[in-house]
Amino acid sequence: MPLGNMNHAMPDTTGPAPNTLSREAEILAALGKRLIVLVGMMGAGKSTIGRRLAARLNLPFVDADTEIEAAAGMTIPEIFELHGEPHFRDGEARVIARLLEAGPGVLATGGGSFMREETRRRIAEKAVSIWLKADPDIILRRVKRRADRPLLQTADPAATVSRLLSEREPAYQHADLTIASRDIPHDKIVEECIEALQARLAPAADERPAIDTVSAAR
Ligand code: S3P
Repeated sequence: MPLGNMNHAMPDTTGPAPNTLSREAEILAALGKRLIVLVGMMGAGKSTIGRRLAARLNLPFVDADTEIEAAAGMTIPEIFELHGEPHFRDGEARVIARLLEAGPGVLATGGGSFMREETRRRIAEKAVSIWLKADPDIILRRVKRRADRPLLQTADPAATVSRLLSEREPAYQHADLTIASRDIPHDKIVEECIEALQARLAPAADERPAIDTVSAAR
């Protein structure tokens, strides 16, 4: 090939630049050993979205409720019935603390766990949290399909959901990121999680806070 032919010296602009990481790779690199923790009300889609988000990032997925049931050797309604809610909450906090040591991964938490200050602190230390925020009508429609949530076995589940939401939203607002959970394809919600995680963990160079080179050099 003649060396003087400038056409062959033009950079190839069709493919990705050699140093460009995919969004998923950027998120994983910035995440390190931390977990991505999904918080929010029952029926918000934490397990469904969490499982898909984990698959997308090639991370293990773990569901706190399933782990609690395995550790107790009984179902959540059984734990509530035999031992009461305070006992369930203590076990839940212990299981989440243990799971937070085993990152990286994606963890779906039970809707009441983020109410405990100690659990919020641990999650802030060991994870990036996403609040899947759902409207009461969506929550009600979704939870009606199953009878495995002891807190909603009340005469007026709609009133219970709205009371729980007003008690819990101030805590959920402490999550690092908020994504609206609605009735659209799951992959769209996962995509929004990916975008929000990338913006939080690996912002583009022009969005990063400028480094103070003067004090950095001192
Ligand atoms: C609860 C939510 C449930 C489960 C338990 C209590 C709550 O988990 O932990 O029934 O207090 O909101 P999901 O949020 O996964 O349904």
